[in-house]
Amino acid sequence: MLSPKKISVLMVCLGNICRSPVAQGVLVKLVKDQELEHLVEVDSAGTGDWHIGSKPDLRAIQASAQRGYDIDHLRARQVKDIDFSHFDYILAMDQSNIRELERRAPAECNTVPQLILGYIQTEQKDVPDPYYGGAEDFELVLDLVEEACIEFLKRVFSKNRLS
Ligand code: 4NP
Repeated sequence: MLSPKKISVLMVCLGNICRSPVAQGVLVKLVKDQELEHLVEVDSAGTGDWHIGSKPDLRAIQASAQRGYDIDHLRARQVKDIDFSHFDYILAMDQSNIRELERRAPAECNTVPQLILGYIQTEQKDVPDPYYGGAEDFELVLDLVEEACIEFLKRVFSKNRLS
């Protein structure tokens, strides 16, 4: 029997060193804990190019590790054209990421970027950028992203009837 095609998810923020690697780490762990690795692929990227090749911000690595998410091995990359056809879901951290993704999207593109917080019941649309903030801002990123990833997985698996 053919194995099902993996559902692929790209987390996107501006620099790919704070929010989107955290979101990648959270979703990867949820997927692992539910033994769904054969069904879900997760990656992350930034709309900007300043941090290409860099590790996540140390504050993001440490706050994530405290909650059991290992993101130390990740390296930043920029969004590329192929992402718009490769990934089934492109989940952006904020509205400016969405605007930039829409600006960059190739004419033939299947995947419409969505706000990650669209998956939870909140007035808040954006995962606030913690880069110029403090430790509490990274905790807020984790709180929001954990809740959104849990709901995202539930929604995707009920839609695709894979679980
Ligand atoms: P991120 O945070 O988009 O969550 O990775 C930022 C990282 C770097 C910069 C801005 C935001 N920067 O201006 O270099």
